[in-house]
Amino acid sequence: MTVNYHNPVHSVYGPGALLSLPSLLAGRKAVLVTFPEARDIGLLGRLQEVLKDQLAGVIDQVRPNPDVVELAPMWERFWREHADTEVIIAVGGGSAIDTAKALMVGNSNNRFDELLAGLAGEAAFAPTRFKTLIAVPTTAGTGSEVTPWATIWDREQKKKYSLHLPQTWPAFAVIDPELMLSLPAAVTLQSGLDALSHALESIWNVNANPVSDTFAVAAVRDTLEVLPKLMQQPTNLALRGRMALAALKAGMAFSNTKTALAHSISYEMTLRHGLPHGIACSFPLPMVLELAIGQRADRDQVLEQALGAPLADAPRRLSAFIESLGVKTRFADYGVGEEEARKMVLHAQGGARGKNFIGTLNTGIAA
Ligand SMILES: [Fe+2]
Repeated sequence: MTVNYHNPVHSVYGPGALLSLPSLLAGRKAVLVTFPEARDIGLLGRLQEVLKDQLAGVIDQVRPNPDVVELAPMWERFWREHADTEVIIAVGGGSAIDTAKALMVGNSNNRFDELLAGLAGEAAFAPTRFKTLIAVPTTAGTGSEVTPWATIWDREQKKKYSLHLPQTWPAFAVIDPELMLSLPAAVTLQSGLDALSHALESIWNVNANPVSDTFAVAAVRDTLEVLPKLMQQPTNLALRGRMALAALKAGMAFSNTKTALAHSISYEMTLRHGLPHGIACSFPLPMVLELAIGQRADRDQVLEQALGAPLADAPRRLSAFIESLGVKTRFADYGVGEEEARKMVLHAQGGARGKNFIGTLNTGIAA
């Protein structure tokens, strides 16, 4: 059997990596895509200082969980005003990077509804114009800087779309833990648990391969060790660096496998119950782990490398770990009853990401 592992993103990692932006631009100009608070926390000023006249424009109205309603006017304006700018630099969490991935692909008639039809699976969207993306994460968890996918929401229609085109891989990921030093505790926790979820989801995954496993096992072990320490010492640069590296490894793992059942469940929990992504995709991990154990001997082996022996006890230990960080792990804790939970998990298994899960569901859900 042969395996393929492919990730074309050039990653630049380490404290001060931000300073590599001018050389990565190599004479090109860039539009900055970031979140509104970047100005107040001094990040925008810092980027202006680093980029100088290579900065061709700033879009700083990125909202959490980008929605097609806000994205449509932003996208059309971007392509009207910046048709000639070659590069987008996305600075922020998953929402900023995902927004940039939607912005980076354009068409000749400047109509967002064609992109939307592509997202909805009604008609293939083939971009005729596209930008180069440099992704600069300010959180440690999303992995979006090393994957081609963007999660786009349509709250009105209660839908979640996944944008995925050959052109939406970032060219560069610039991972600078100094940018993460001022992250609030809640975002540090949510993004760290998102990374843990990416790593585990790439193990109990039909697309797993030995290379993705190597990244995933390291990411799980690192996150279990580092995240609790980081929550105690949020301004410790070394710990920020280790968590950033763990999240990068998790990103490298799921860039080749995609996510699985826990993420499929998370989309419903975010749409219907408003849970932040990192909580929504991590609270079901112990339950999904229980379903995964025993499905395939080779997956059990890798899960044991990641979570330690005995594997039978791993769901209890994982649950204790997540709860020790203040996150509840049962559906009932989020107001979801046993019957609704059962239906949600079955529905999630039929979703695009749910189908990546190695197991079939025949277990009762402990609500
Ligand atoms: Fe995620």
